Amino acid sequence: MSDLLKKINPNRIPKHIAVVMDGNGRWAKKHGYLRAIGHKSGVKAVREIVQASDDIGVKYLTLYTFSTENWNRPKLEVNALMELMIDSLTKELDGFQKNNVKIVTIGDLSLLPSRCKKKFADVVEKTSKNSGLNLIFALSYSSRLEIISAVKSITTQVLNKEIKLEDIDSDVIDKNLYTNSIPDPDLLIRTSGEQRISNFLLWQVAYSELHFTPVLWPDFKQADLFSAVIDYQQRERRFGKTSEQIKK
Ligand code: IPE
Ligand code: IPE
Ligand code: MG
Repeated sequence: MSDLLKKINPNRIPKHIAVVMDGNGRWAKKHGYLRAIGHKSGVKAVREIVQASDDIGVKYLTLYTFSTENWNRPKLEVNALMELMIDSLTKELDGFQKNNVKIVTIGDLSLLPSRCKKKFADVVEKTSKNSGLNLIFALSYSSRLEIISAVKSITTQVLNKEIKLEDIDSDVIDKNLYTNSIPDPDLLIRTSGEQRISNFLLWQVAYSELHFTPVLWPDFKQADLFSAVIDYQQRERRFGKTSEQIKK
């Protein structure tokens, strides 16, 4: 057992970890490669972190894979990313099945090229009965668009008299987000040294613990995940209460 693993309290594992996997481009530049190679190396980090999360008993792992803003990147890079996703999903499917991993997607998938959309739909369908780790890919994802879509859907329900205006509360909002059956993240990790949310899970991270690390995503290893979890376990989550109230 690694020394870091020994430091993890098995009774306080974050149920849901969300990750902004950032720094593939800078990693590639640092090594003199094209950006696409950075993304390819990022897939290796995904594999390692999925395994490590599963090993310590995380139930939900959400990976920010592609934002709606990322559609504005050069076409060549976008195409490379789409092909990489198709290729990686094809290669990983057996492993997901063996490890009982359930794949879920959130985002506006209608914008994905049809081969990519089909691949995700296929993997989601084939792993839908798995009961282990829930691996959620945020794809063509924008938290603001998610909130706009929830507002539209709730408004329609009010107009159709399915719910009353005064019944709208946090639970109603939760139910109408892409993440409806997924608990809020306990821990949000962002790699590459950037300290921003970049339109990711704005509603859901209301009380998440934030962990920023300078490590570039392709270099992010099991030990980095364990360090983030140890950091998380040292936080006192007060949810607005006083420290004394929490300790009672
Ligand atoms: C994250 O790495 C991957 C995606 C956003 C798809 P970046 O590609 O943003 O890497 P940097 O930020 O340019 O280093
Ligand atoms: C956020 O990273 C999106 C993903 C990791 C998929 P970006 O690299 O797109 O974020 P900004 O533009 O630096 O905020
Ligand atoms: Mg980036």
